[in-house]
Order: sequence, then C-alpha cells, then structure tokens
Amino acid sequence: MVARGNWRYPMSTLSRELDSPAPSHSWSALLRAGLLADRKEIPTPWLYDGAGSRLYEAVTRTAEYYLGRVETELLARLRAELAVLVGGVEVVELGSGASVKTMHLLEALGARERRLVYRPVDVSGPVLVRSRRVLERTFPGIRVHPFEGTHDVALSHLEPVEQRLVVFLGGTLGNFSDAEQERFAAHLAKVLAPGHLFLLGFDLRPGTCKSVERLLDAYDDGSGAMARFNRNALGRLAREYGADWHPPEWRHVARYDRVTHRIELALASPRTGQIRIPGLDLAVPVRQDEEIHTAISRKFDTGDLAAWFEARGFRLRASWTDDRGWIALALFERV
Ligand SMILES: C[S@@+](CC[C@H](N)C(=O)[O-])C[C@H]1O[C@@H](n2cnc3c(N)ncnc32)[C@H](O)[C@@H]1O
Repeated sequence: MVARGNWRYPMSTLSRELDSPAPSHSWSALLRAGLLADRKEIPTPWLYDGAGSRLYEAVTRTAEYYLGRVETELLARLRAELAVLVGGVEVVELGSGASVKTMHLLEALGARERRLVYRPVDVSGPVLVRSRRVLERTFPGIRVHPFEGTHDVALSHLEPVEQRLVVFLGGTLGNFSDAEQERFAAHLAKVLAPGHLFLLGFDLRPGTCKSVERLLDAYDDGSGAMARFNRNALGRLAREYGADWHPPEWRHVARYDRVTHRIELALASPRTGQIRIPGLDLAVPVRQDEEIHTAISRKFDTGDLAAWFEARGFRLRASWTDDRGWIALALFERV
C-alpha cells in the first residue's frame, strides 16, 4: 500500500514504501497533458525526486543562489523575535526540503528544551527521510511527522489543534501561477483557525537593491548547478518512463520577465525530432530550440503581497528583510 497522503502513517512504512518504484499513476496524466500542450511544460514538483532534492540542495550551496543563504541568515537573526511572536505551536512546513533553515526556527521555538510537533510536507519522500533523521538527532524531544505529498493534500489532512504555525519558505510561493496562488490562499484560510500563524519567505523584485543580473545569476550559476537541477525534469522522465532523450544536450534557459516579475526556467531542444516515452505510451515531436517549460519563480513586493493576503483573511503581524533588501519574511495571522 502506498504510504502517502496520510499523517498517521509511521515513517517506517513510508521508508519501506520509498524502496519500491514511485507511483506513476498520479504523474502520468499531468506529464502527458503538459508535453502535448502547444506551450510544452513539465509540472514543477516533478523536478523533485530524491535526485532532484539533492540537486536543489547543491544549487543552494552555490555563491550565486542567494535565496537559500540569505533566508537562513535572516531566520537565524530573527530567532529571539520569532520566539516571542510565535510561542508554543505545532509547526507545519510546506515544501520543507532538507529543513535546514527550519532548524533556526525550531531552535527559536525551544525544540531543544521541550517537546514540539513538526510536520514537514514535501513531494520528495527521500528528502523527508533524511531530514527527519537529522532533526531527531539535533532535537531529541521533537516529534517529526512527515507527509509525503502535495501541499493541498497535506492541508486537507490537518487535524484541529489549538495553535498552529504554517511555514512556507524558499520563495516556493513564487512557483505558483496566479490561479494556483489564489487556490492556495483560499485553502490555507479554510484550514487555519483564527489566531493561527503563517510564516512566508519570498524573493523580492529586482530594483535599487538587487539588479536583474544578480537575480539571473542565481538561476544560471557558473558551476551549472541550476542547469543540472533543471535537467532532472528530463532525467527523471528517462529513469522512470524510459524517455529516449539525452538530458545534457538540452540547453538550460533562465530569463526574467520584467512585466510579470517572474523568472522562467525551460529546457531547449538540441534538435528537431521526436522524443519517445514508452512508459507514457507517447511520442512527442519537438523542433530545434523549442522549449519545455519547467518552472516559474515570481518575485514580489512586500506591500502588495501583504495587501493581497490581507484581502484573503490574514493580518500581517510583522515583516522583515535582510540587510541588502533582497528577500523578505512575513508573519501573518489568520483573522
Ligand atoms: C524551492 S524548494 C524549497 C525547499 C526549502 N523549503 C528551502 O527553503 O530550502 C521547494 C520544495 O518544495 C517541494 N515541493 C514542490 N512542489 C510541491 C508541492 N506541490 N507539494 C509539496 N511539496 C512541493 C520540493 O520538493 C522542494 O523540496
């Protein structure tokens, strides 16, 4: 039985399940629809399997990818302040990845001294297994209940508690389209009770503090870490569905759209031809340089984003930025 989509599954069951092949049924329809569309795309969460999570972590270690490093520094700086603002809560983290930054938050919430429930949510099961091990070693009293699945399914399974903090870091909100962000906020507002908290980390728009070039470097670093991460979209399709493309030949594309304020990631085909994907029973025609879109990363203005959430049932309690004004954190309360 698939040990996904239920908080109550013990991690041992989840770990065992992770040794077996990934469930393909849920992805097949999404992948087929995306690859057959006029503007070809692969859903962003597909980039994160065990290999993808490691490749993403390699991205966060590059000098250019400031998002991870600066957000970690900001959380470390805010420890004392967050401890006062947040108090004793159950922590749910959406798209938790390796939970590296969350260590500072858990530390601030006293995870070393008292029992605390932490519920990391991620589509990548292997990263949850790894992070759970590290967290339990670091905070012996902590109770970690990982959930392998998507944010929306995880939010639907939350049970009522007195006080809860939902954490969403790494600029991951920026991966949503406008419509997805709208659905996400509506769902969050529905599952959080008045007084519950939402801590959001997001990347700020380029301007006087950060140049577009600085931003683009983060998505196209000199060592090629982001390109390797991006190409995992194709690598995973080759591993799991037998796609006959050769990922290294595909060109990594990262551009910034100044009108929609978003980074767009894509992979450009090295030639005209057909990609055969036996596992999807699909042959996809592609032209040379045709792009398959893999992710967007929207950049925000703190005032606009706060007003947007305030119009959807949240009140801004506090917001912070790093010294250079590159990224921001905002703490909202459900009203
Ligand atoms: C940009 S990374 C951020 C990781 C971590 N929070 C950080 O700040 O370093 C996005 C994370 O969200 C996960 N993810 C992406 N889409 C998801 C979805 N729809 N539901 C749950 N997790 C998702 C990925 O596996 C990945 O770990």
